Amino acid sequence: MQVKPSGPLRGVITVPGDKSISHRAVMLGALAKGTTHITGFLMGEDCLSTIDCFRKMGVPVEITDKEVIVEGVGLHGLDAPEGTLYTGNSGTTTRLLCGILAGQTFSSTLSGDASIRKRPMGRVMMPLMEMGARISGRDGNYCPLQLYPSELHGISYTLPVASAQLKSAVLLAGLYAEGQTTVIEPAPSRDHTERMFRALGVEIEMHGNVITLDPPEDLYAVDIEVPGDISSAAFYLVAGAIVPGSSLTIRNVGVNPTRTGILDVLRAMGADITESNFRDNAEPVCDLTVKHSVLRGIQIGGDIIPRLIDELPVLAVAAAFAQGETVIRDAAELKVKESNRIAAMVAELSKTGADVTETADGMVIRGGKQLRGATFETYGDHRIAMSLAVCALACQGSSQVLDPEVVAISYPTFFETLQSLGG
Ligand code: S3P
Repeated sequence: MQVKPSGPLRGVITVPGDKSISHRAVMLGALAKGTTHITGFLMGEDCLSTIDCFRKMGVPVEITDKEVIVEGVGLHGLDAPEGTLYTGNSGTTTRLLCGILAGQTFSSTLSGDASIRKRPMGRVMMPLMEMGARISGRDGNYCPLQLYPSELHGISYTLPVASAQLKSAVLLAGLYAEGQTTVIEPAPSRDHTERMFRALGVEIEMHGNVITLDPPEDLYAVDIEVPGDISSAAFYLVAGAIVPGSSLTIRNVGVNPTRTGILDVLRAMGADITESNFRDNAEPVCDLTVKHSVLRGIQIGGDIIPRLIDELPVLAVAAAFAQGETVIRDAAELKVKESNRIAAMVAELSKTGADVTETADGMVIRGGKQLRGATFETYGDHRIAMSLAVCALACQGSSQVLDPEVVAISYPTFFETLQSLGG
């Protein structure tokens, strides 16, 4: 994809549905009694992997122009799949499904693409095994994972990392466990599973960082409206902030407080972002308007990290165009995402002449230099590709983003929307 230096970005757009919520809507819809109509579902490759896996376990899922319709089979209604459940590039599918499969009466095998087979699964296997699950993985930590029928019991588990995927896997297994399951988080991570559980009638208590679930008899289907994904909106928030003259509005963006670290950080950097038309159902939603402004460097670390973990690559781009130094720390998790996102961003931003240094748990970016266009590798990682496309808009001279089709994992129409804004 050729990306040229951009004039002002202007217009009103929407972004595709939230990836995390789309996955959960299919999973919990499948386990519920009754029919779930999902509007705003993200038709990205990751969420389609989730649909495929549930279809393989006998769950009827219909995709129409307007919605995804899941015919729930109930908590104990999944069929044994024939062959491996293939999760593609999707960590959320793999880890959350692991929690569900741990409590089934059939055996199953989970695996995905080359990136998934490199991502750590021991963190999920460990608590599930403590609950009584029988799971084995390659080298005890990697896909393919084999799961065998087992009887689960509730546990109280302190997460070693603030990971919503890990938390959700334990809570999903808790649906099948004898007795209560408690999860204690080191810092709040996205709570979409907990909110959706409540909406479907599951008794779940949240007190600070302690979450307790009582195993339900049944889950009852409700219709789910998926808000726009703030992690996709993030690319335009940064683009609008760094490209001079820009003013753009993104409608219908999910602003669950466990996901809005990007807004806090961009505002602290001096970005001009306003929220309007706020509404709240199971998930809070609003319209976001961003205007270009001069950004300044900032320290990003601590409890905010899980609230913006997927936005750190594009925040690194914002930092490269900001005045002064930005330090990202406590973000070692970035190394085990779809790619090593610290190494990827440091290598690619360096090609533009940016002053970026990798650290053990993040990076240091000394911003404010005039950056020049480059040929960017994308590491098979959708968010790296989109972040570098945003960077290219504000560089001097044109750039190439290699293997741009990778954006289809979470945002198939990313480049079209960027063009519609004048990019
Ligand atoms: C997700 C949680 C995060 C995030 C991922 C989606 C989820 O991963 O990076 O894109 O839907 O629960 P971790 O929980 O592993 O940090």
